[in-house]
Amino acid sequence: MASFISHTELIAEEIIPTIDFGLLSNGTPDQRSDMVQALAKACEDWGFFMVVNHGIPDQLRDEMLEAFKTLFDLSDDEKRPYVGGHVLDPIRIGTGFNSKIDIGKCWRHYAKIFVHPEFHSVPKPLNFRNISQEYSKCTRAIGLELLKAIWEGLGIDESRVKAALKLDSAFQILVANLYPPYPNSGTTFGFLPHSDHGLVTLLYQNDVDGLQIKHKDRWMYVKPAPNSILVNTGDHLEILSNGKYKSVLHRAVLNSEVARMSVVTAIGPALDAIFEPIPDLVNGDSPAVFRAMKYRDYLEQQQSNSLVEKGALNLVRL
Ligand code: OGA
Ligand code: NI
Repeated sequence: MASFISHTELIAEEIIPTIDFGLLSNGTPDQRSDMVQALAKACEDWGFFMVVNHGIPDQLRDEMLEAFKTLFDLSDDEKRPYVGGHVLDPIRIGTGFNSKIDIGKCWRHYAKIFVHPEFHSVPKPLNFRNISQEYSKCTRAIGLELLKAIWEGLGIDESRVKAALKLDSAFQILVANLYPPYPNSGTTFGFLPHSDHGLVTLLYQNDVDGLQIKHKDRWMYVKPAPNSILVNTGDHLEILSNGKYKSVLHRAVLNSEVARMSVVTAIGPALDAIFEPIPDLVNGDSPAVFRAMKYRDYLEQQQSNSLVEKGALNLVRL
């Protein structure tokens, strides 16, 4: 465990790629085409990038963070209905990664809410429903637009992928992570190294750093530019692209003085969609490296087990 966190292995900061969402969604055809190429390169080389000019109002982001903070601060009685449920329950509050099995390994509180295709919300705080609905809608639109550009960059027919993945019913989950201050003992994490299920994950944090990604086999801190959101590609994009766009390992370390918070939203295929490498990307030279599986089954397996890096992908690896 200690080797995970040895700061001597951290590499000097490299600048992660930046994607200008404004140019992607409203640029001239040439600007859009340049951004599609930049996005393809970011997915292939990094699996992690910053998105600027994304159009999410600052106020909405701040309100979302604040509403989650209020939710975490509710009394235990008020939170009890959401604690300790099944991994596919639409609202869950807990600690660690999976509250039942790895308590103590990660010093993190979480709230996870399924927000699409069916929208769920907690009744308190009172403004939570409106804010989370708006925030989910905005981030889903960005995620789906990024995916459209990603299919374009891969040279595949968007309408076919969209239909196969049933993206009109895309599964979206809204998660908040709260990492209380904790003396940096070198053995306790905020969030253990893992990759995300789903296609893309969008992350927004308060102004406390702590996120690290594994890039070229070394861990590095990610410092998002002000007003940017961080996006990483998930396991399902790795599967669909037949291994071309690898999901990236990331983890969160703790700050000894201040609490860190992040609001994360993951967007994936419909839960009942069966995903597999896109046939256009599979041929004699590059045979399929993953088998087909239903997203719901994958999610259930990943979320019910201990988090062991990218172990969940082995469920479908051929
Ligand atoms: C996640 C995650 C990291 C962070 O929620 O999947 O990786 O910095 N969070 O909170
Ligand atoms: Ni993650």
